[in-house]
Amino acid sequence: MDAQEATHILEEERTRGLAMIAEARDADALRAAEVAVLGRKSRYADAQRSLATLPPEDRKTVGKLANEVRSALESELERRREELSRADEERLLEADAVDVTLPGRRPRTGSLHPLTIVEQRIVDIFTRMGYRVAEGPEVETDWYNFQALNIPPDHPARTMKDSLFLEVAGRSDVLLRTETSAIQIRTMEKQQPPVYVVAPGRVFRRESADATHSSVFHQVEGLAVDEGLSFAHLKGTLEAFAKAMFGPEQRIRLVPSYFPFVEPGAQVDVSCFICGGAGCRVCGNGWIEILGAGMVHPAVLENVGYDPERYTGFAFGLGIDRTAMPVYGITDIRLLYESDVRFLEQFGGVA
Ligand code: DAH
Repeated sequence: MDAQEATHILEEERTRGLAMIAEARDADALRAAEVAVLGRKSRYADAQRSLATLPPEDRKTVGKLANEVRSALESELERRREELSRADEERLLEADAVDVTLPGRRPRTGSLHPLTIVEQRIVDIFTRMGYRVAEGPEVETDWYNFQALNIPPDHPARTMKDSLFLEVAGRSDVLLRTETSAIQIRTMEKQQPPVYVVAPGRVFRRESADATHSSVFHQVEGLAVDEGLSFAHLKGTLEAFAKAMFGPEQRIRLVPSYFPFVEPGAQVDVSCFICGGAGCRVCGNGWIEILGAGMVHPAVLENVGYDPERYTGFAFGLGIDRTAMPVYGITDIRLLYESDVRFLEQFGGVA
């Protein structure tokens, strides 16, 4: 091999080698390329071995070229090696990666029962008017549930037909309260006027369940006793409540009614907050009956030791279920007590 041929081979090998190295797709291909371009059996090695046979002048120039070509190929090998190992690392990281952009699995959280939401709204409205919240037991005695409320022993409300009496050894006067009105008596026994309380709670009746009846339902009792309270205060209070609860355009209507513990007594209707009073499928005639109310009967005040000559009061009892059902468009009261999660989930309002 003469100098010209050796020079030609070295130039060719530089070009071919650089291309092979650049094309190597992984570490194995790169090692193979290295052997092919610089290994003992490579054309480069042949050219280098021929140096020994060249005249000194040529040996110098061809030798210099051979060194240049080797260092060009070696530095390209090194660069490509690094490039491939970086890519390897990236591939590994990518394979190991956890996709944090996915939404996590949320624990299932509960939501407030529609009766709880409505009860809280009712109680809120009255506490803002200055009322305190009172409580009483669900298991009551005949005295608190009936007698003290001026419901005499022969009143039909106390018969086994309406009430759920409990079997308690040696007693026949224990029952599940049939109305939250019993809390009126317990509250007045414990304090002197002025009294302004609301008392939410569960009540129980002997009923067979259908779309509008349930043996368990909920009421909020209200009681105000003070000097100089009149029917006008009752009406104004309930009107303020109806507007706060159902909207400022709502009206109330009082229809004479009888409850033993008030005189006079009234049934209170609220103008339908769905149709605005025109009459619709929910209300029928434009009014929704949600309350009973009246002026506290003097006999009730006497029963707790209040002087009826000095104090007057008004009371009202509001059905929570009856209020919640039109608010949410619920047409069957049993849905409120079946604890079906598919039903309950629809009301939101987490505590
Ligand atoms: N307790 C009555 C009921 O369950 C509702 C009621 C009516 C409560 C008139 C009152 C009232 O305080 O004055 O039907």
